[in-house]
Amino acid sequence: MSGDDTGWVRVAARGDLGDGDVLGVVAGGHDIALYEMDGTVYATDDICSHAYAKLSDGWLDHGEIECPLHAGRFDVKTGKATAPPCIDSVRVYTVRVSGDDIEVKLD
Ligand code: FES
Repeated sequence: MSGDDTGWVRVAARGDLGDGDVLGVVAGGHDIALYEMDGTVYATDDICSHAYAKLSDGWLDHGEIECPLHAGRFDVKTGKATAPPCIDSVRVYTVRVSGDDIEVKLD
């Protein structure tokens, strides 16, 4: 065990996420949405910052996830809200791919 592995949690298989896909997972009590864009995996909170909806039920479009409930949007790389009614950011998580594992760094 190296200290570098502290906080990393496997959340999905790499093969579970195809190009342009969104996948909701739960890890360490966090609802997390995984996104695949151009071969890179990103992760944010899955629950919208506006009200209760799962971003993983929404649509990934040009680097933004559109919430299925009121069509607010977030940049999946930064978590910043990019369209109303969303104002507050969602949290982003650091992601790494290790073999066929997608891992997210949790506190
Ligand atoms: S719950 Fe997501 S935009 Fe309202």
